[in-house]
Amino acid sequence: MKEQLENMRANAEKEIAQAGSTQQLEALRVKYLGKKGELTTVLRGMGSLSTEERPVIGQMANAIREGLEQRLEQAVQELSAKEKEEKLRNEFIDITMPGKRKIIGHKHPLSIVVDEIEEVFLGMGYEIAEGPEIEYTYYNFDALNIPETHPARDLQDTFYINDKIILRTQTSPVQVRVMQNRKPPIKIICPGKVYRSDAVDATHSPVFHQIEGLVVDKGVTMGDLKGSLEVFVKAVFGEDVKIRLRPHHFPFTEPSAEVDVSCFICGGDGCRVCKGEGWIEILGAGMVHPKVLERCGIDPEVYTGFAFGLGVERIAMIRFAIEDMRLLYENDYRFLKQF
Ligand code: PHE
Repeated sequence: MKEQLENMRANAEKEIAQAGSTQQLEALRVKYLGKKGELTTVLRGMGSLSTEERPVIGQMANAIREGLEQRLEQAVQELSAKEKEEKLRNEFIDITMPGKRKIIGHKHPLSIVVDEIEEVFLGMGYEIAEGPEIEYTYYNFDALNIPETHPARDLQDTFYINDKIILRTQTSPVQVRVMQNRKPPIKIICPGKVYRSDAVDATHSPVFHQIEGLVVDKGVTMGDLKGSLEVFVKAVFGEDVKIRLRPHHFPFTEPSAEVDVSCFICGGDGCRVCKGEGWIEILGAGMVHPKVLERCGIDPEVYTGFAFGLGVERIAMIRFAIEDMRLLYENDYRFLKQF
């Protein structure tokens, strides 16, 4: 039995010395010292020993157990230190390595301008109203006092789906829809895409963006229109700019005006941006025509209103000194990253 124990110890020691991981060591502990391990198995044969031999073998078995336990413990410590080191080495991150820079996008210049203008008017208490891009001629023309014979209705100017349905040429039909559905006071801006049958060039596109505004209430005057537009142009072009209203004609406003801003680059002396004029035309406006109010169920004897409409592309081109409208649609990154 002594020999058996010695052999077992020798084998165990050899295997412990060769173990490559703490996991293997644990397996060896179970194999030799576990409840069903080899040591227990050998000791089961103790019953056949003489009374003199028994304590000797017992002592020997204990010594072997202790010895193996110590070796295991030591080997576990060594190996776990090694394993930890290896893990640290594998998980090492070189913080001096150059990172991968993510390209973060930003707003398109048209969105910058739309958001900015919306912000200004929301600040003055306007609401945003939206409507369909595919529109009835009734809302786009008739209700707005644009006669059957008006050139804007021409096939050459307007995209027709059929006799009565078109792609809207302005966002004014949204204003008609709001006036027909609500009682004054009304204070809205209508941003959105509009369509005109134009060939693409540096200043034209068959699809572009407008923001139109409408205020209807008792006692609204041309002075209110001018004051509101002044707040707007100062917010977009700077505190020092002035506005100028020139008489004009629109079928849906009376009186009507074209509105210019003093050149925010040269201050009015004349430069490349204002083409030497000192003034830049930015929008159309006027007092809502009594016939339009009437067609929308609003009594023109009681209520008055003003309206204005601007082209977002035009404002963006002036604001950022962009000379060709096509740049706004080409999505050339070299262009877009400047904003
Ligand atoms: N709807 C006009 C256009 O598209 C702009 C405008 C709106 C002019 C309101 C006057 C008043 O040209």
